[in-house]
Amino acid sequence: MNRDTGIEIVRRRVKLDYDPQRARSWTRLPRRSEDGLNAISFLFPLGETFFCRSVAHYRNRITDPVLREQADLFIYQEAMHSKEHARSNTALREANVLGAELETVARVLLSLATRIWPRATQLAMTCAMEHFTAMLAASLLGKRLLDKEGTDPEFARLWLWHAAEEIEHKGVCFDVYEHVFGKGIWPWLHRCAAMALVTGVGAAGLLTAFLVMRVKLAFRRRPAALGGPSKKGAAGASLRNLFGGLPGREYFAYYRRNFHPWDKDDRPLLEAWKREYPDFGVA
Ligand SMILES: [Fe+2]
Ligand SMILES: [Fe+2]
Repeated sequence: MNRDTGIEIVRRRVKLDYDPQRARSWTRLPRRSEDGLNAISFLFPLGETFFCRSVAHYRNRITDPVLREQADLFIYQEAMHSKEHARSNTALREANVLGAELETVARVLLSLATRIWPRATQLAMTCAMEHFTAMLAASLLGKRLLDKEGTDPEFARLWLWHAAEEIEHKGVCFDVYEHVFGKGIWPWLHRCAAMALVTGVGAAGLLTAFLVMRVKLAFRRRPAALGGPSKKGAAGASLRNLFGGLPGREYFAYYRRNFHPWDKDDRPLLEAWKREYPDFGVA
């Protein structure tokens, strides 16, 4: 649990400045990798609002004051991510980048989820999605894909701050779930079923949206890239750069009976980010 890792979940206040001119091409990553990040960015505002609501619903059932404080910090951080990605998405939309389709996918899937599934399942789905965000965050920080030299500094700050906080609070939703429902066989089966559901429905939704994006791309000329090496020069790399490195073993670990997000110790990644961005967002 977070309380045993010695990690402090920090309340950071963040307001970055996204330039639509830079949003057209804000990394020197291969085109598809940047499209992938933009697409995910369009999922975040609604997705993270869903996370906040899922956890907030159980707040009063948390009898452990340390965990209740962590739940409050989790909600604070996710709300801040939601707000900042919504602001960056405005710049992305102005720059006419691909990916806005994902917002519609998120809206449809999440509104269905809130209508169809009971609150307990929504919390289990949030735990599952938090497993994905933690894996992506570790990949982003670990591979140093958004190093300062190659990326627009504000977009780099946004993504790296978000990744760091995803690691910081990666155990909280899971701890709330186990605190409220216990570690018995039924809660375990329930969270595994929720993970299978999130994986299946999420993959189908993303695939549909990416196909729409690829078709649109075929009819559109790309805007010019930031100065520096051409994105074409990085051909061959793709979304796999970002996500292909996610080890299947890490994903499947979630289905283990005794799984916990902190089985994988990501503290070195978090510490490295703090060294690079000391006191980020801290008043
Ligand atoms: Fe987040
Ligand atoms: Fe999160």
